[in-house]
Amino acid sequence: MNERETLKINERGHLSIGGADCVDLAKQFGTPLYVFDEAYIRNMMRIYRDTLAKKYKGKGLVLYASKAFSCKAIYRIADEENIGVDVVSGGELYTALQAGFPAEKIYMHGNNKLDYEIGEALDAGIGCIVADAYSEIDKIDAEAKKRGIVQNILLRINPGVEAHTHAFVQTATTDSKFGFSIADGTAEAVTAYALEKKNLHLQGYHCHIGSQIFEKQSFVIAVEKCMEFSANMKERFDFTVETLNLGGGYGVWYTDEDRKIPANGYAEYLEALIDEVHKKAEEKQLPLPYLLIEPGRSIVGEAGITLYTVGAIKDIPGVKKYLAVDGGMFDNPRYALYQSKYTPVLANRANQEPTEIVTIAGKCCESGDLIAVNVNLPKAETGDLLAILSTGAYNYSMAMNYNRNMIPPCVLVNEGVAEYIVRPQSYEDIVRNDIIPNRLQKKSK
Ligand SMILES: Cc1ncc(COP(=O)(O)O)c(C=O)c1O
Repeated sequence: MNERETLKINERGHLSIGGADCVDLAKQFGTPLYVFDEAYIRNMMRIYRDTLAKKYKGKGLVLYASKAFSCKAIYRIADEENIGVDVVSGGELYTALQAGFPAEKIYMHGNNKLDYEIGEALDAGIGCIVADAYSEIDKIDAEAKKRGIVQNILLRINPGVEAHTHAFVQTATTDSKFGFSIADGTAEAVTAYALEKKNLHLQGYHCHIGSQIFEKQSFVIAVEKCMEFSANMKERFDFTVETLNLGGGYGVWYTDEDRKIPANGYAEYLEALIDEVHKKAEEKQLPLPYLLIEPGRSIVGEAGITLYTVGAIKDIPGVKKYLAVDGGMFDNPRYALYQSKYTPVLANRANQEPTEIVTIAGKCCESGDLIAVNVNLPKAETGDLLAILSTGAYNYSMAMNYNRNMIPPCVLVNEGVAEYIVRPQSYEDIVRNDIIPNRLQKKSK
């Protein structure tokens, strides 16, 4: 097992997270259960925030990309840590506002913001909207005019760097539903368009080159392209970029195929970006932009685990041994979506060596409902407690009620003590929005 700051094997031989024994957590809250370590989350937010403050010669703000894990408590933590957030839907915006998050530190993304979402963002007075289509620019401008305000916007541009976990490529033609391409001239054209809008204030640009990226150089090249583009726009339209948002995407550890970046190693990613912004600003004689970054996964990913109880065990001789758990794709659809890999730990016997290869399956009616395929574990029995590591990002936020399974609750551990931050769903929640029309009502005989 990869030893991580938040995870330990305690004197009872149990896995613990943030000082809380997983066996006790399962007894107290039941399974399946998402568990988050608050100290880990705060530490990651501070690393980014303090690195930006110390190393960047201009001003800037860290935005937590809340699509990674959104609930009221996480916005409270982000607020207490003095960072901003990005949201990508009316639902995330509503959750942030309900948590009392300051609207001026909210940035709104999305490749197809709905009219009502734009209206809600303007009514809330959010700091900035990142526009990603001509129709959005028109809509934000019109809605701002109606309200007698000038709305800050950024344009999402596509620098032609496609980054994946262990590699990146530079492309001239970009096939993405996100952003306006620098290479084909659309980023320039949309800049001209946005600058004409009376009720918009174009602050600058945003780019996000991908997720779960380990190659520092891919981020650096993206910065270089954005800064060069900014210099071109200065020349072309006398437009000075005030804000540059460099997105998120820093990779996390899921299995030993991934790099295990020590928490402060993330500071080095940010420093590399900052150095490039300094360098290019000087070279191109540009003022230093207000600098934004938007990490999501790296803040919450390794802060979270999911606890399951092992149920049915099916050994198909010579083929596979399946351990079925009380969760599945309804709480973690990432294997079904991308064949994502995870590391399981037998949490109630975490000190035992692995002895067999198993596949962890969920309880949904899909053969592809798997959590981890061909992984090493000690011999597990029905009733054992299984932890899947690094599930803090894009698990709860992607959960669903497929097969009318209930989405598991989330607990937050603080100095060894856990409490709910998302309550368990009930069967009542599952049928809450169902309606039986009169004509289908059961007739009394
Ligand atoms: C625009 C934008 N910003 C930030 C993020 C966060 O990325 P990550 O969670 O990989 O840091 C994403 C993720 O998809 C994104 O689309």
